[in-house]
Amino acid sequence: MSRLREEEKDEIAKRAVELIWKYGSDILKTDTMQSERSFMQHGKVSVYEHSLFVAYHAVYKALKKRLAIDYRSLIRGALLHDYFLYDWHKVGDGSHRLHGFRHARRAKLTAMRDFDLNDKEMNIIDTHMWPLNMRWPKYRESFLVTLADKKTAWRETFHKRDMRMERALRPLLEYRGGEAPPEMPKAK
Ligand SMILES: [Fe+2]
Ligand SMILES: [Fe+2]
Repeated sequence: MSRLREEEKDEIAKRAVELIWKYGSDILKTDTMQSERSFMQHGKVSVYEHSLFVAYHAVYKALKKRLAIDYRSLIRGALLHDYFLYDWHKVGDGSHRLHGFRHARRAKLTAMRDFDLNDKEMNIIDTHMWPLNMRWPKYRESFLVTLADKKTAWRETFHKRDMRMERALRPLLEYRGGEAPPEMPKAK
């Protein structure tokens, strides 16, 4: 595949953000999702930001490769993949050491409590820590999210910034519920 020009990459980035808003706005609006801003994931990145980054990377890759997939489930699963709703650095009883093994199941149960999930969305959340938790991703969408999660975690840990992503996602990174954010990027 020939290399994409910068303008083409910008278009894919805008389209990815449009789709995240289209299929995930009801999730992003909730107080519980917004509460993820106060839980840190890696370094200075909150779980809210991390979840948007994972959704973005998964959608970007699918759009770039022109994959015929279920974007709605991909986005909803990605946004909710770490919906465990606690700060895993601050669990005082030592159980945070098992966070890596346990949080996917916890995220799935919490997400099922708060949202109507289909089988694909549940599988995306449940298997995103593969191969660590030995639960095999059943769908292409699940694979995309587990790969995007690893890529995102690596970048966050080593403070690698993706300026195109940050530019395109800025309205959603700053979004705090309520009406649609102004200045959403518009793809052609
Ligand atoms: Fe996770
Ligand atoms: Fe994650």
